[in-house]
Amino acid sequence: MKIAILGGTGSIGEGFALRWAGKHDILVCSREIEKAVNAADEYTNILLYRGMECCGIKGCGNETAIQEADVVVLSVPYQGVVSLLKRLNPCFKDQIVISLVVPMTKNIWFEYTPPVQGSAALEIQEVLPESVKVVSSYHNVSARKLAKLDLSLDYDVVVCGDDENAKQTVMDLTREIKSLRPLDGGGLASSYMIESLTPFLINLAIRNKLSDLGVKFL
Ligand SMILES: NC(=O)c1ccc[n+]([C@@H]2O[C@H](COP(=O)([O-])OP(=O)(O)OC[C@H]3O[C@@H](n4cnc5c(N)ncnc54)[C@H](OP(=O)(O)O)[C@@H]3O)[C@@H](O)[C@H]2O)c1
Repeated sequence: MKIAILGGTGSIGEGFALRWAGKHDILVCSREIEKAVNAADEYTNILLYRGMECCGIKGCGNETAIQEADVVVLSVPYQGVVSLLKRLNPCFKDQIVISLVVPMTKNIWFEYTPPVQGSAALEIQEVLPESVKVVSSYHNVSARKLAKLDLSLDYDVVVCGDDENAKQTVMDLTREIKSLRPLDGGGLASSYMIESLTPFLINLAIRNKLSDLGVKFL
C-alpha cells in the first residue's frame, strides 16, 4: 500500500514511517517539500543503518501525496488540521484517512476540548468528501516509543470507524507493529472516548512521575 503521512516530519509521524516502511511505500508529507525530503532521507538512513528492509520512503508535498495514497495518516496538531484539510479537500477521493488527532488544551492540567461535532474524528469526517473513509485510532500510543524500533509496544489500540473494510485495513496495519493489539472500538461516533483518554494519560503520567503511558485491556 501507499501510505501518506501528513505531518510526517513531526514526533509521531516518524514512528509510523519507520514501522511501516518494511512493507509499504511511505510518503512523508509536509507543508514544505524540502522539509519532507530531509525527513524522508533521515528515516531511510535510520533503517539502512539498522539493516532493516525498506520499500521506499519519499518526501512529498501534501497535495501530491494525498492523490497518490491508499491510506492518509493525519499526524498534525488539532489546531491546524481542519484548515489544512479544507485546503487539501480537492485532493481526496476515496482514501482511508486515519485520524490520531486529539483536541486538548492545557490549563493546570491537560483537558479534552472537543469541537461541537463531539470529537476530532467527526469534525474531520465533516470536512472531507463523503467517499473518504475516516478511521480513528492510535491516540494513546507514545510517539517516543513508536520511533524506538527495538521496543515492542505492549499496548492495545482501539480502532473506530463506520466503514468495516477500512477499519480492518487499519487493524491489519496495527498488527504489523510489534506487539500492538488492535481492538474494534465500534463506529466513528465512539472516537471521543479514545481521544479523551490521551489528556487523562498525560495527567496520570505527570502526577505519578511516569512516562509514555498507554492502554491495555485485561
Ligand atoms: N506525540 C504523541 O505522542 C502523540 C500520540 C498520539 C496522538 N498524537 C496526535 O498526533 C498528531 C501529531 O502529533 P505530533 O506530536 O507528532 O505533532 P507535532 O510534532 O507537533 O507536529 C507534526 C507536524 O504537523 C505539522 N504541523 C504543525 N503545526 C501545523 C499547523 N498549524 N497546520 C498544519 N500542519 C501543522 C508539522 O509538519 P510540517 O511543518 O512539516 O508541515 C509538524 O511536523 C496530533 O494531533 C496529536 O494529538 C500525538
